Amino acid sequence: SRAAVWKQVQGLRRRGFGIEGARGAGYRLLGRPDVIEEQELFSRLSRTDFRKSFVFFPVTDSTNSRAVELAGKGGAHGTVVCADSQTGGRGRMGRRWESPPGVNLYFSLLLRPPLEPLHAPRLTLVTAIALAASVEECSGLTASLKWPNDLYLGGRKAAGILAEMSADPDRLRHVVIGVGLNVNAEPHDFPEAIRGKATSLKGLTGRAFRRVEVLARFLDSFADCYDIFLSGGFKALLPEWGRRDALAGKKVLLRYREEEARGKALGVDESGMLLFRREGSARTEKVVSGEILEFGG
Ligand code: BTN
Repeated sequence: SRAAVWKQVQGLRRRGFGIEGARGAGYRLLGRPDVIEEQELFSRLSRTDFRKSFVFFPVTDSTNSRAVELAGKGGAHGTVVCADSQTGGRGRMGRRWESPPGVNLYFSLLLRPPLEPLHAPRLTLVTAIALAASVEECSGLTASLKWPNDLYLGGRKAAGILAEMSADPDRLRHVVIGVGLNVNAEPHDFPEAIRGKATSLKGLTGRAFRRVEVLARFLDSFADCYDIFLSGGFKALLPEWGRRDALAGKKVLLRYREEEARGKALGVDESGMLLFRREGSARTEKVVSGEILEFGG
């Protein structure tokens, strides 16, 4: 019956198939969708760390919110929450993260790290390094990192990281690390306001990537970096940051503690802090958290 066909079409659309057509006038399958399925993801992983619990949503407001919820219900370390699209994707500083369906990766990791709360922010940098390494492996491109959480390809932002933690004064409960990576997005997938500033793997290589493959590479790479970090501290990963540092030696406009300051970025130290020298000053300051508003030169 017509109703049964309609139901089937809706089901396929939910699974990510592009289907053209209207009720009663016939349907046309637009091509193989780039599906992200647990079975394939797990089979592509070399390490077992993130082969425990994979939760996938065709649509959700924010994978970070879903992961925080799971954390509250006792969700296990290593849980991965992923969505095909987000209606309320969150970025840093209360910004929004554009999350159109079918083209990009939006996912969050639930971690329960044996760390002091004070050291948890370093996980953002660890994630950025793992993301850079996996993007480079998949695409052959060279990634650069903008402290503390942005990945750049060819001078444009291709990914962002949003870490949210919950801690008692002396004990970390959990950390949720959200990653948004533009994989196959084309300029028309971005709103005009960010079109000139954003890019994707496809935008730079001209070819499409299977999202599940990129995700698997990232999870393996993250598992490696996480181990190195837990045993050797951020110090052990510093060279990996250093060779991709987009800011080192550059003039920057930095916002921190409600204040804006111009100066020069001098790299990142062994605890993940930004080294910053104010214009006209000879002293190097260490910045724990802040935001680079402009860089170049
Ligand atoms: C930024 O650059 O400001 C950080 C962007 C982080 C976006 C990701 S997409 C998956 C996860 N869920 C969210 O709501 N945000 C993060």
